[in-house]
Amino acid sequence: MGNNELRGTGKLEAINLTKKYEDGVLALNNVSFRVEPGEIFAMLGGNGAGKTTAINLFLNFIEPTEGEARIAGFISHKKPLQAKKHVAYVSENVMLYPNFTALQNLDYFARLGTEKKFTRDDYRKVLLRVGLQESAHNKRLKDFSKGMRQKCGIAIAILKDAPCILLDEPTSGLDPQAGFEFLQLLNTLREEGKAILMSTHDIFRAKEIANTIAIMDRGNLVMQRSRQELADANLEELYMQYMAA
Ligand SMILES: Nc1ncnc2c1ncn2[C@@H]1O[C@H](COP(=O)(O)OP(=O)(O)OP(=O)(O)O)[C@@H](O)[C@H]1O
Ligand SMILES: [Mg+2]
Repeated sequence: MGNNELRGTGKLEAINLTKKYEDGVLALNNVSFRVEPGEIFAMLGGNGAGKTTAINLFLNFIEPTEGEARIAGFISHKKPLQAKKHVAYVSENVMLYPNFTALQNLDYFARLGTEKKFTRDDYRKVLLRVGLQESAHNKRLKDFSKGMRQKCGIAIAILKDAPCILLDEPTSGLDPQAGFEFLQLLNTLREEGKAILMSTHDIFRAKEIANTIAIMDRGNLVMQRSRQELADANLEELYMQYMAA
């Protein structure tokens, strides 16, 4: 495959991805999957299943023991700069500056993440798009609720306009309405053609939103099914069966 062909596609691929931590814990065992543009791929799995490890490998926060994570064709640990250019990341606890206002955080992190130039109106529009009312734009983040901080995180990700988006438990700790709104937003990003990989403990929401659901168990990808395949399935029951196996 030529380089041009690789660069054209904003997909995410885990190829035989394996991570053994220094203390010998096999956190990820030969895991392969693919997230195409316009798809949401949700990883479910118990605490310690390897979901965050998988996401951190894509982000090159850690290096794989074997295999590779590819972002838009770029192998994360071999072409980290190119890979990072093509991905936006939202963590459970969005790390923004508490003493900066929403607008200041956007300005700081958007400039850090891309070379694009933004106007104050761009920031205003994206904050409104993610559902942060105008009266909050000039408030400091330390006075924000978790849901409001999360909205700022996704606003920064939207400004970066990367073809791939990684989210580690993005809706954990959000109230039902904030969680719902957040997933609506992910829906619109999918419609724009983003490839979205997320981890979550919310089985019901995952089933509602994802094109593909994976269940991880102790480092192994034990189930991967499409939305169609799961249409008539009771995902919660299925999940419990895999956990008991
Ligand atoms: N930096 C690290 N060093 C050593 N072991 C680690 C490290 N990070 C994670 N682990 C181990 O790797 C395994 C997978 O952890 P990981 O954080 O990927 O799970 P997870 O699926 O994200 O869990 P949770 O649902 O609790 O977030 C666990 O056994 C964990 O203890
Ligand atoms: Mg985790």
